[in-house]
Amino acid sequence: MKDHIVEIKDVSKIFFTKSGSLELFTDVNINFCASTSYALIGESGVGKSTLLHIASGLEKPSTGEVFVGNQNFWDLKASAQALLRLNETAIIFQQYNLIPCLSVKENIEFQSRVNKKHNNEYINAIIDDLQIARLLGEWPENLSGGEQQRVAIARALAAQPKILFADEPTGSLDEKNSKIVLDMLLNINRKYNTSLVVITHSLAIASKLEVCLELKSRKISKK
Ligand SMILES: Nc1ncnc2c1ncn2[C@@H]1O[C@H](COP(=O)(O)OP(=O)(O)O)[C@@H](O)[C@H]1O
Ligand SMILES: [Mg+2]
Repeated sequence: MKDHIVEIKDVSKIFFTKSGSLELFTDVNINFCASTSYALIGESGVGKSTLLHIASGLEKPSTGEVFVGNQNFWDLKASAQALLRLNETAIIFQQYNLIPCLSVKENIEFQSRVNKKHNNEYINAIIDDLQIARLLGEWPENLSGGEQQRVAIARALAAQPKILFADEPTGSLDEKNSKIVLDMLLNINRKYNTSLVVITHSLAIASKLEVCLELKSRKISKK
């Protein structure tokens, strides 16, 4: 049995809004294992992004627990939580969120310098894998969407996380660039054993990942 990287246990999420309470999901249990790739599918508004934010330690569940390795995330001090977010997990979004005033190279190095895990050899390998070496001196605004997402992936991976969460990473890309970005993510999953969790609307994308999880009627099931 593979080690678990992130485990969510009996997790529920309820938002309390002006128009009443909104219960997104209840008693969700997922064990994200080492080296494994996951698709997370489900209709729009069902709570996929919220679940990803909970799994990556960005958002607290209403009830239940999140374990990163053997550590109960929400029992830790804020400083220890920040270290786990920096060292163990990474997240990318549909919008690439590159820092506009930093060059491509500075964007990539930013993350690894923050957590002092700067390994030049690894970063250069990632840059090669994502085929962005010729873009290193550019400003993000001069890049195409596909190129920006590849830089965002390199930045997310620069600190050598054990798991990469991706919220509709190809949602803003055309078919050709979607395929390129997904193939690169899969290559990284295999080459560096980085676990991968991809939210997607595309069943074609989901079929390329090892495990497909569907969020429906407030529950998670394997497809
Ligand atoms: N912070 C929040 N406060 C209140 N409602 C929220 C908040 N975040 C998300 N929601 C609502 O929760 C539902 C699920 O959102 P989300 O997780 O983004 O779904 P999905 O990613 O599956 O489209 C939506 O109806 C959204 O409006
Ligand atoms: Mg979403």
